[in-house]
Formats: sequence, structure tokens, C-alpha cells
Amino acid sequence: GAALVIAIDGPAASGKGTLAKRLALHYGLPHLDTGLLYRAVALTLIDADADLDDAGAAARAAADLSAERLSDPRLRERAMGEAASRVSSVPEVRAALLSWQRRFADGPDGAVLDGRDIGTVVCPAARVKLFIVAAPEERARRRHRELLGRGEEATLAAILADIRARDARDSSRAAAPLKVAEDAVVLDTTELDADAAFAEAVAIVERLR
Ligand code: C5P
Repeated sequence: GAALVIAIDGPAASGKGTLAKRLALHYGLPHLDTGLLYRAVALTLIDADADLDDAGAAARAAADLSAERLSDPRLRERAMGEAASRVSSVPEVRAALLSWQRRFADGPDGAVLDGRDIGTVVCPAARVKLFIVAAPEERARRRHRELLGRGEEATLAAILADIRARDARDSSRAAAPLKVAEDAVVLDTTELDADAAFAEAVAIVERLR
């Protein structure tokens, strides 16, 4: 059949990554966690001792990004989400990463991409668009569990503050802000565990594909 592109957007720790991975497995599609691209740009700057607010350096890092960078375990650290959020507001960074993401989405079978602007900017023609939300306190609890599981210590209050700061920055930036695409289906996972959220998402995909 025709290619199936599933766009999944939402704020930090909404559960979109877990959902994207499971949907990709279920439908046999490749999956791209686009947050990793922004995290990798930030990590390149940090490793080079460059300033995270140096837009020129960030743009060069994005243009030269290699696929190997995306498997660096440091990309998952808490500080990297914050750093990624800072470089992601640079329009040249977004433009360089846009072509990367479009190539990935244009595969013969389709793809699952998750991020902030997949349904609005990267894949505006995607057949299925999901926008995943959850209460900030619940997202902070999930992220806290995840970080503890990886041996990274942080208080729940600090994580909640991170999440609120990132929501504000990602929603208010001029370039491709976090917002719900007109034709996206909003899925609130506050009261859902991972299995229930997956079941809801599959039902939505089946309805739209
Ligand atoms: O999804 P994740 O938390 O890994 O994303 C890290 C940061 O990268 C986000 O806070 C956001 O600023 C940026 N990002 C983006 N557009 C995307 C994916 C991530 O601006 N498609």
C-alpha cells in the first residue's frame, strides 16, 4: 500500500517517545526521535567548549551532524534536554535538520517521527498526526522515574521546573513553535499507562490510515 507517515508531537515527557517506538514496531516502520538531533547539536557545542547561544556554531554543528552522534548515551542526560531546547530556537539549525528529517520520512514504507513540529512543519502531509499531552506534574513524575532508573539524581521539584521552562520556551519561540496542527488528534495520557496509551493510539491510527 501507500506509505504511512505517523507524526507524533507533544511537550517534554508527555510519553510521545514511548508511543512512537511502539507504533513503529507495530506497523513495521522506521522511527526517528527528532529530539535526538537537537540534543546532538547541543552535545557537539558542549564537547567543543562553544557557547550554547552561539548561533553560528550551532548552525555549523547542525549542518555537519553525523548519524553516529545520535547513539551517544550522553544525549539522554537531563542537562541535554535543556541545552537542546536552547539551540533549537536558531532558525539555521532547524533548517539544516529539516532536510535530514524529510529524507527519513520519505522512505518507501513511511515512518514514525516524534518531536515538536512534525505535524506542523516537517511532515505537514502526514496521514496520521497525534499530539500527546499530559499534566506537567505527571510528566515530571515519569521523567523522575526514568532518570532514577538510569542512576541520575534529581529532585521532582527540579524536574517539574525544567519541564515548565521547556514548555514555555518551546511554545513561545518564533521558529516552528510547539503547537497542535489543525488536523492533529490530541491524546491526553495523564490517566493512561503505557499500554492504555498505545491501545488508544492504535485505534486512532486505524481510523485515519
Ligand atoms: O524531545 P526532546 O525532549 O528530546 O527534545 C529536546 C528539545 O529539542 C526540545 O525541548 C525542543 O526544544 C527541541 N526539539 C524541537 N523540535 C523537535 C524535537 C525537539 O525543537 N522536532
